[in-house]
Amino acid sequence: MKKTAKKVLVIHGPNLNLLGRRETDIYGMKSLSAINKSISVLASELGIHVKTIQLNSEGDIVNVIHKGGYDALIINPAAYTHTSVAIRDAIAAVGKPTIEVHLSNISRREEFRKLSFITGVSVGQISGFGPESYLLALRAAASILSQ
Ligand code: DQA
Repeated sequence: MKKTAKKVLVIHGPNLNLLGRRETDIYGMKSLSAINKSISVLASELGIHVKTIQLNSEGDIVNVIHKGGYDALIINPAAYTHTSVAIRDAIAAVGKPTIEVHLSNISRREEFRKLSFITGVSVGQISGFGPESYLLALRAAASILSQ
């Protein structure tokens, strides 16, 4: 019997729609649509069905997490990483394997970025590899979903 492709949802949090124009010394020159393109290319190589979405509001992120329809979640919660108990609780409530992603290395930036509310409900965090962070996360998700 043919296996159905596993579904991975990638959520990009607030301000990530401005990638390529926003603080390019930290986040690089690549646009979000270019990043999404490379995520899609790798997903087809891995035989994974991927959906990407960018949301600026905390409540919208919570709603999309609740909605389901995915086997694993990759999330760059952006600024909400450091503030959002609501996103953390949504991830815990749904209980799908979750990988936290950051373009920059949040551990070597300002003090307030060192705390993540999301890591404690994630399988792991990938931080500091620029757009490649998403691709590493997708490979990790593929590995988790194949087990
Ligand atoms: C970020 C890091 C966060 O601290 C910041 O608020 C972002 C982007 C990253 O991808 O490096 O918006 O999540």
